[in-house]
Amino acid sequence: METKIYKEANLIEAIQVLKEGGLVAFPTETVYGLGADALKKEASKKIYEAKGRPSDNPLIVHIAREEDLSRIAKNISLDAQKLMKAFWPGPLTLIFKKQDIVPYETTGGLDTVAVRMPNHKLALRLIEESGLFLAAPSANTSGRPSPTCAAHVLEDLSGKIDGVLDGGEVNLGLESTIVDVSSKEAVILRPGFITKEMLEKVIGNVQLDPTLLEGAKENMKPKAPGMKYKHYAPKGNLTIVMGETSQVVNKINTLLLSSPKDKVAVIATEETKDLYQCNQVRVIGTRKDEATIAAHLYRILRELDELGVEIIYSEGFSESGLGFAIMNRLVKAAGHQIIYA
Ligand code: TXA
Ligand code: MG
Repeated sequence: METKIYKEANLIEAIQVLKEGGLVAFPTETVYGLGADALKKEASKKIYEAKGRPSDNPLIVHIAREEDLSRIAKNISLDAQKLMKAFWPGPLTLIFKKQDIVPYETTGGLDTVAVRMPNHKLALRLIEESGLFLAAPSANTSGRPSPTCAAHVLEDLSGKIDGVLDGGEVNLGLESTIVDVSSKEAVILRPGFITKEMLEKVIGNVQLDPTLLEGAKENMKPKAPGMKYKHYAPKGNLTIVMGETSQVVNKINTLLLSSPKDKVAVIATEETKDLYQCNQVRVIGTRKDEATIAAHLYRILRELDELGVEIIYSEGFSESGLGFAIMNRLVKAAGHQIIYA
């Protein structure tokens, strides 16, 4: 099939495709999502096929108006209502008990449903004007970095989906924070832009899924099925070097001495980019603003794949605030290979 590129001016065409059960990728503030009618099981099945996604990995349902929530979710707690008020529209996904109309094909066989209201004008228009609930996982092939622009979507899914709504680069670049509010205690299943501290300011104590903590055992099972799969792994062998910045730079330079010059790259920051003896230095962002680092991580991983380097060294980042989400993705991309300088 030919994958069409839609602009805001052709929104009607994209909506028509979705109404007929087709797949259209669209921008959100976090990453591009691969959209389909969440209440049509055949449409959800197509998402899994196009992405090569394991069928036990549930999809996030996107809504545009809070009053639609109770059609797909039940037992909406007071805490959940406070979180929605504070962070919707925005990069926060909430897990609720599902209503019967949500097919198990959309929830990966679970009795819960993940719901999010994206903070993106085009996404909200698409949902609202289609009148649909849009199931949308990140619009990448399973195992590849999530797409932060329409070109990334096409790289992975061209010929496999009906279309992509091009809304330019996304703002945040990391997937939403996922919080389970389906039982008494709120639990973070995936870290993101909305941090534990931000959530706790609104509802008090929030737990972290134990598998997110350092020292988590290999055999522990994360509550978000998607978190167990190998993710974001670049083709080159990625190692993270942690420590005080000047020592990190020294350590990476030492490692570079014993690496073949044309096959190695460094992921650096604005502050350190000129300090490496390496031909391929990629600037991920500035340490003065962690959001810049989050915004460029996936693009850089894709670029390094295209470059075909075999060895990648990346500076590590502090795990406080947004750094927790950044390191969650980076450590996975590195298959947990970390050196302390
Ligand atoms: O920012 C985002 O969340 C993006 C944009 C497109 O909205 N979407 C996204 O979707 O990252 P995806 O499919 O790549 O990740 C969804 C995650 C998976 O880890 C999945 O296992 C988890 O959410 N999930 C979905 N429904 C769940 C449920 N009922 N219980 C537990 N985890 C769930
Ligand atoms: Mg994903």
